[in-house]
Order: sequence, then structure tokens, then C-alpha cells
Amino acid sequence: MTVRAVVRGVGHYLPARVVPNEAFADRLATSDEWIRARTGIERRHFAAAGETTASMALVAARDALAAAGLGPDDVDAVIVATSTPDLTFPAVATMVQAGLGMTRGFAFDVQAVCAGFVFALANANALILAGQARRALVIGAETFSRILDWTDRTTCVLFGDGAGAVVLEAAPGSGTPLDRGILATDLNSDGRLRELLYVDGGVSTTGTVGQLRMQGREVFRHAVEKLAATAHAALDRAGLTSADVAWIVPHQANLRIIAATASRMQVPMERVVVTVQDHGNTSAASIPLALSVAVAAGRIRTGDLVVTEAIGGGMAWGAVVLRW
Ligand code: UT7
Repeated sequence: MTVRAVVRGVGHYLPARVVPNEAFADRLATSDEWIRARTGIERRHFAAAGETTASMALVAARDALAAAGLGPDDVDAVIVATSTPDLTFPAVATMVQAGLGMTRGFAFDVQAVCAGFVFALANANALILAGQARRALVIGAETFSRILDWTDRTTCVLFGDGAGAVVLEAAPGSGTPLDRGILATDLNSDGRLRELLYVDGGVSTTGTVGQLRMQGREVFRHAVEKLAATAHAALDRAGLTSADVAWIVPHQANLRIIAATASRMQVPMERVVVTVQDHGNTSAASIPLALSVAVAAGRIRTGDLVVTEAIGGGMAWGAVVLRW
């Protein structure tokens, strides 16, 4: 019998404070027009003082568990994808575990920057297929507002804060692409590209948190080339093609990257979930946020074939093909 990791529930959290593009034009040489035209971003949410990656992840986790109709001790594993943890250690996932009141199971973080949720989903799938967990809570949560250089117009206008979560559950499948659940994954990284997108501080170097640095144009070039390739690789592995795709749920960094990837995959934009206008780039949180918003809006439905794809610092990139 084939085991599949099936999505049982999804949830999200966005901080209350919404910051429109105009807010940046007051103090930087930028404009709403430039940001919209070059990125598709119109607004983003920023965490309030006292809100953290773990506090946002916890609300998203509760939301996903409620949607799944499960309690905290029904879950065996909590995996949080984040590059902006509350503390150097312990893992944000253990804070979520405690916050939920879980008294069993295990919890750990995954750090693959903007591709973090795809990496976490693939790892959760592997744990479920290996029989090490029956149910896993997979969360993407970020507080990028805490690592931005507010004097750098080329980066600070792009990012936002938030969290999204899914509950995966082992279920029997037929071993065909008609099964519900995760059908294939494709993960990649190339550490030679580290200078393109990184944070210039850390525990064993500066002893500081640091700030985000990015060569945007170069990252853009790699993104357009690599995202369609990884999505195709995952579809191939699942025995499917672009024609089978009901929804692409891409990492939300830039509408032009999202559109170029969809075009390379020959999937029309009507079948792409886009939230970048409202959330900005929330790094590892962007895909579960987009999934949750699309499910709440009744767009993604049971049986739909969904492709998620993401790329970010490392560089690290990948895709997950799943049937909802
Ligand atoms: O999530 C992780 C992955 N990250 C990404 O996927 C981000 C990928 N990169 C991008 O999304 C785009 O490259 C950016 C949005 C970052 C930049 O857009 P672009 O079309 O690639 O612009 P550019 O970097 O080629 O810059 C064009 C011009 C430059 O001015 P000059 O040199 O032509 O005079 C920039 O200095 O736009 C200028 N510029 C701005 N102008 C107004 C850069 N940022 C801004 C700004 N407002 N905020």
C-alpha cells in the first residue's frame, strides 16, 4: 500500500498593521508607482512590537489545527520554516509546540530562506512516508521587518511579516497521480550563489542579527530560470504535466517573476494564486499564506492539483506537487 501525506487543514496569521507603498515615499527616493510596476506589491503587514515569529506561527498553527478538527496532541511533529527565529535557539517550532500545549512529539526548524516552506513540506512528507510521524504541522513564519535596512530602497520596500500553516496526515493511496496528498518533491541548492542574497550578520561572525542584502536583478534572473525547471522536475516525477495543474501557488516575491514562471510553464495566470499585492514577500511564510487565503476564498478545492515553487537565499529552490 502507498502512503501519502495529505493536507488536512490550513491556516494563517497576518499582523494587524498594514503599511501601504506610500509610507516609504515619505523618507526614501521611491514611489507607489515604482513599487507596483516593478514588483506588484501594494501593501504589506508588519508585526507590532512584542509580536514575534513564534507568536505569529502559533496563531497560524491553531488556525490550521482548528480547520483540521484536531487537537495539539494529535500531531507528532512540528516543523517551522523560518530565517527570522525569535532566538538563536531553541527552535521556533519548540516554542509553538509549548504554546499549543503539546506534551508529546518532536519539533524543529528548517532554514532555507524563501524556499523554506517547500523544504519543510518535503521533509515532513519524508518523515510521514518513513513512518516517523503520522501527522505533521508544517509552518512558514517570518518577521523580515526586523532584518531590513530601512535606508535601502532596493530591499526594504519588498518584504512583509506573517505566518501560514498546514496539517499533513498519512493516508492510504493507490500510488497513482490521482491520489490526494504530496505526489512529488524537488529540492535544490547552490551555495556558490550566496552573495546574491544574504544577511550580513550572524552568531559566529559578527555576533549581531545583521541586515538583508540582495542583488535583486541577479536573483530575478536565477528565479525565472530555476522556478519553472524545478516545477517541471517535480511534475515529471509525479507523472504529470503542466496541463494537469489546477493551481500554481508560487513563492510571492515579485509579480513579474510569478508571471514569467507561469508563462514558461504554459499555465494561464487565472490558475495562479497571487497574494504579493497584499502581503509583499514574506519569505518562508508566503506559500502557506497564499494556500490559506486561496482555500478560504473557495478557490483551491479537494482534488485540485497544486504546484508550489520557491527560490531564495543560498540559493535554495524547489517545488512540491500535491493533490489537495
Ligand atoms: O524572495 C527571495 C527572492 N527575491 C526575489 O525574488 C527578488 C528578485 N528581484 C526583484 O524582484 C527585482 O529585481 C527588484 C524588485 C528587486 C528590482 O526590480 P528591477 O526591475 O530588477 O530593478 P533594478 O534592480 O534593475 O533597478 C532599476 C532601477 C535602478 O536605478 P538605476 O540604476 O536604473 O538608476 C534602481 O536603483 O530602479 C532603482 N530602484 C528603485 N527606484 C525606486 C531600485 N529600487 C527602487 C525603489 N524605488 N524602491
